[in-house]
Amino acid sequence: MKKTRLAVFASGSGSNYEAIAKACSEGLVNAEVVLLVCDKPGAYVLERAKRYGTECFAFNPKEYGSREAYETVLATMLDERGVDFVCLAGYMRIVGKVLLERYERRIVNIHPSLLPSFKGAHAIQDAVDYGVKLFGVTTHFVDETLDGGRIIDQAGVVYEGSDIEELTNIIHGIEHKLYVKTINKLINNKLL
Ligand code: GAR
Repeated sequence: MKKTRLAVFASGSGSNYEAIAKACSEGLVNAEVVLLVCDKPGAYVLERAKRYGTECFAFNPKEYGSREAYETVLATMLDERGVDFVCLAGYMRIVGKVLLERYERRIVNIHPSLLPSFKGAHAIQDAVDYGVKLFGVTTHFVDETLDGGRIIDQAGVVYEGSDIEELTNIIHGIEHKLYVKTINKLINNKLL
């Protein structure tokens, strides 16, 4: 059976990228990551991608006149590689019209909170500051709003400790499993 072609967009460490690439290489999902897009040229995710032999495109958004300009370049790259789905994995940017229209219902994101609570770049810290005890992870379709779009999967964990590093590691572990579950639903047409 033909493998589904994934692109992963990331800005940082890339542990979610690696979880996806590893699941693909181990046959846990019938897919391959054909492109890693990174908007931070020095990000560690690029090292990880090298290890997995994933083609990378690193770019600096400031070198383009607008979001439309760089997304037009990205859309062409996705089209040329026959990408079926785009997985945002710590991609710290709003996705604009160009990509959303071209890849409608084919762009998904993972976020380290039980959405719609605690959107944004500091979700875990924000939840801790609020006194949350039930933490979690959400995967969702992407729309033009920050961490917005229809929810696909969620997983929760009760944590009553005070070690943010420990909590972050627990949440990352949950993310890595949840993303694989969601990608399996996507490629098996369980969501359309
Ligand atoms: C992950 O926790 C992901 O959920 C989060 O960034 C982290 C990236 O980690 N994304 C967001 O907060 C999106 N708003 P990683 O680079 O190790 O995959």
